Amino acid sequence: MEKLVIRGGRPLRGKIEISGSKNAALPIMLACILVDGPVLYRNVPRLRDIFTTLKLLRILGCSAAFTDEAGHEVAAEAGALMPEAPYDLVCTMRASVLVLGPLLARLGRAKVALPGGCAIGARPVDLHLKALERMGARFDLDSGYIVGTCAELRGADITFDFPTVGGTENLLMAASLARGETILRNAAREPEISDLVNFLCACGAEISGEGSDTLHVRGVSSLRGCAYSIMPDRIEAGTFLTAAAITGGELFLENCPAEALNAVISKLESMGVGFERNPEGLRVRSGASLKSAGVTTRPYPGFPTDMQAQIMALMTRAEGSSTVEETIFENRFMHVPELGRMGADIELSGSRAVIRGGRPLIGAPVMASDLRASASLVLAGLAAQGETQVRRIYHLDRGYEHIEHKLNAVGADITRLEDR
Ligand code: EPZ
Repeated sequence: MEKLVIRGGRPLRGKIEISGSKNAALPIMLACILVDGPVLYRNVPRLRDIFTTLKLLRILGCSAAFTDEAGHEVAAEAGALMPEAPYDLVCTMRASVLVLGPLLARLGRAKVALPGGCAIGARPVDLHLKALERMGARFDLDSGYIVGTCAELRGADITFDFPTVGGTENLLMAASLARGETILRNAAREPEISDLVNFLCACGAEISGEGSDTLHVRGVSSLRGCAYSIMPDRIEAGTFLTAAAITGGELFLENCPAEALNAVISKLESMGVGFERNPEGLRVRSGASLKSAGVTTRPYPGFPTDMQAQIMALMTRAEGSSTVEETIFENRFMHVPELGRMGADIELSGSRAVIRGGRPLIGAPVMASDLRASASLVLAGLAAQGETQVRRIYHLDRGYEHIEHKLNAVGADITRLEDR
């Protein structure tokens, strides 16, 4: 396993280019299962989860690979499809459950390992299954696998109990090739959903309501290949905005999807961070001092749960007490004890955290537990006095492309080492 050794206290200054979005690329690449013909994806980030997705597509009978060793283009094409997504893959990446909709739509059957929980919670898929049953699918549980069958998916009027991101994505893909019209109500509105809608429409799907919580899908008989560029990663961008603020620096983020970050930007502004938007990207400069704030995570366009750990690290540097209420996942405070090892004063009660700022962070060995908790520890290490070692950084590599290269290029001092 590897670790990052971070020597903190250095303000970040310079320019960072934002990579393609992991959470847009995963469903959009899996959607190639629906398509007759070759698809060329551009701006695909080179991340662990992307390589896992390519492996999964090949197991399912598709050709799928980066077009060269270092680039960001992926060529994919559905071949003679197989219905099974095996456990050893699904357990490393929950998003594998997103093959359910496409396989049922193309093959009429699917066998997908039930995604176990993960560090941030149980994360069931009951909303996906209930909605697909409304379209005529039947599911059995067979020794840890979801086995789905349907003679033909039929359009349905579906209301989600909760605006589930993955559930909305699975149903959008299933409905694109179903017979008749599907309405998805209380659908998730995350920008990555809009990117998936735009990709499916580029392949010939008939979907309206993009960006709203009600999506109308008129099923078509087939989808054709196309070339498509993945949207920039708003969570990577939000993480780097926070890095500038926590180190007292100034960064220019190229290809920053500022429109998709309004909740994060306005919260950081309330803490005293300055922003300047322009067509090429977003400039962020830290304020003279940081004010405390209150954050409650919400489905989009509310404050994203994927930025909760990162802003909590920043709050340790603010004057006074800040609060965080996590409403999306039941166990997304794994970063708290690790921040505590660095001197942070954070008190937890249920889904609420109170962060008392003003004390310096002191570098220490800390353990990553999930993707965004890892990012929070890196941010704390950048601001801390002395040296921080963040271990088990395979979590980090799932969602950040060359994070230490990007941060070192703007003044950080980070080394990646084998963790013996
Ligand atoms: C997506 O996960 C993202 N992952 C997550 O990002 C993100 O945190 C999450 O959306 C919320 O924005 C990808 O896009 C690959 P949900 P997903 O279905 O689809 C419960 C990251 O850091 N739920 O909206 O799993 C579920 O347990 C990752 O990049 C059910 O109860 O999110 C959770 O508490 C982490 N039943 C909540 O809803 C269901 O059938 C949100 O889940 C589905 C979900």
